[in-house]
This record gives sequence, structure tokens and C-alpha cells, in this order.
Amino acid sequence: MLADARRVVVLTGAGVSAESKIPTFRDAMEGLWASFDPQSLATPEGFAADPETVTKWYDFRRMKCREAEPNPGHLALARIERELESRSREFILLTQNVDGLHRRAGNKSVVELHGSLEVWRCTETGEEFRDLPAPFDTYPPRTDRGTVLRPGVVWFGEMLPPEAIETAGERLDTCDLFFAIGTSATVYPAAGFSDLARAAGASTVEINPDATPASGHVDESVRARAGAVLPEIVELAFGAGDASPRGGNG
Ligand code: APR
Repeated sequence: MLADARRVVVLTGAGVSAESKIPTFRDAMEGLWASFDPQSLATPEGFAADPETVTKWYDFRRMKCREAEPNPGHLALARIERELESRSREFILLTQNVDGLHRRAGNKSVVELHGSLEVWRCTETGEEFRDLPAPFDTYPPRTDRGTVLRPGVVWFGEMLPPEAIETAGERLDTCDLFFAIGTSATVYPAAGFSDLARAAGASTVEINPDATPASGHVDESVRARAGAVLPEIVELAFGAGDASPRGGNG
């Protein structure tokens, strides 16, 4: 399917990063953070009440992600993008992950549906800053003009970025192959993406060691770890070449 596809959409979730040992939101709430209520750390109200604690929490998670490395699943997805691009075929990666590992693995066509731990946004102007030095030296962090920065992630009760949803919808409407990888398919709108792709006539594939609510609606449910099976799929579709992890530049 992948070898023949012309317009590919991939949706990823926390499972793709599990093999890089990225703690999920809840897993990260250990040690010092164990006593906090998620509502106080991941809502606009929690941030308004205690911006110092909330930004310390996101900075802690940002540093944990920087310590992690992309795994073979991430690297295989980066190769899929390169292979399709070199054949003038379309590819887009829609991710619910905020850890930035897809970009670090080499994917360029990435839509971060839930934002990114590497993006911080001015609470007054909305201006976004990426890849700021870590850790910050004051909490909450501030711009040079002294205005407060907030994490560029989508909190409980917030809307997903409208342009991300629009791009996702356009690509789902026209794709001919859709993968849902490492996502429990329970959090909307991403949980509905495989049905949208199917309605558009695409073949649909799920990769997850466990069954999900989407498993019965897809053409192929591959019960395996992403890091184990994606490199195999890529090799079947495109051959063994391109061993270099970020490849392409010799
Ligand atoms: N390879 C593939 N899938 C895996 C792997 C792996 N190695 N390990 C675990 N999984 C699967 C699990 O079986 C589970 O179905 O990944 C899925 C992870 O599900 P969730 O933790 O619910 O993550 P996700 O689907 O990304 O959640 C969506 O919910 O908590 C919010 O904002 C958070 O972005 C997150 C959103």
C-alpha cells in the first residue's frame, strides 16, 4: 500500500514516543510533581492562579524530552517522508505528541495538533518562540520586553489551533492511505481521523500493540510496536537503502 500511495496522512500519539521513554503527562507526575492535580498544571485557570509552578512543570517536561532520542519508529517515519517527497508524492504527519521528536528525527511536514513543549507564546501579543535555552532562569519566563510566556501546548478546555485542524481536514479529505500509529483513538478530534480518511476512500492502517476503538474500522490493524514494525514496512515499500538516520546528505 505504501509503495503505491500518492497522498499519505500519518497520525501519531504517545505510543510512538513510548520507545524513546518519553513519560506521558501522567507518568511525568512523579516525585516532586506527584501531589499536583492535572487540572492545576494543564488548564488556563491553573496557569492564571500559579504561573510559576505551571511553567516550571512544562520546563521540566521540556528538558526530559530534550534528553530523549528519536527511536526507530520516528526514524522510519522520517524516511517515509523523504522517499515520498523524492517521488513527488504527498505526505503529512499529524501528531498529538508535544515532545518534538518527529522534527528531531527529520520529518518536516509535521502538524503539532496539541502544540509543542518547544514553543512558548507571549501572553500579550501571541508571538511564538521556539527552541529557547533550557532551563529558564526565572519562572514564569518572560520576553525581553518583560511580558510573560506561556507554554505553546493545548490545555484541557482549549481549542486546537484552527489552522492545524483545517490542514488536517484538507489532507484527510484527499488522502489515499492513512496510518494511525500509537494512539488510543479516544481523544477527539484525532480519534475521528481514520473514519474521515475512510470516508474519503483511503486505505486505513492502525499500528498499535493493543486493540483500540478504531481497530474494527480500519482495513489493517497491525498489532505491533511502532519501533519494531515501521522499519520493516518502510523496507518492504522502499528497499533497504538509506541506513543513515537523518539520511539524504551522504
Ligand atoms: N508502538 C505503538 N503503539 C504503542 C506503543 C508502541 N511501542 N506503546 C504503546 N502504544 C499505544 C498504546 O497501546 C495506546 O493505545 O499507544 C497508545 C497511547 O495512547 P494514549 O496514552 O491515550 O496517547 P494518545 O492517543 O496520544 O492520547 C491523545 O490524550 O492525554 C492526552 O494530550 C494527551 O496527546 C494526548 C492525547
